[in-house]
Amino acid sequence: MPKIKVINTETDETFEFKAGYGANLRQAALYNDAEVYKGLNKFLNCRGTGLCAKCVVEVEPMENVNGRTFFEKIHKLEDHQKLGCRIKVYGDITVKAAIAD
Ligand code: FES
Repeated sequence: MPKIKVINTETDETFEFKAGYGANLRQAALYNDAEVYKGLNKFLNCRGTGLCAKCVVEVEPMENVNGRTFFEKIHKLEDHQKLGCRIKVYGDITVKAAIAD
């Protein structure tokens, strides 16, 4: 099971948990009470459909997650960024979350 470390850059809280191979990062984080959204975006988001880009995160290493998705291309994210709701986890990762206003 991949280990996931989520660092909330807004509150400096760190969350560590495990998820199944291929798990969706947003769903796994919510299940483990790890906050990936900044401020009111916790309530004002698209619920993981890929449309709002409020769940942008920075992932290390990128090799342990799926490749760039259609929605990530539409939102023109930087190479080190992904949408939390579009991430499938295949290995241990560290995630910087709560970076999108
Ligand atoms: S939750 Fe809206 S794009 Fe991820």
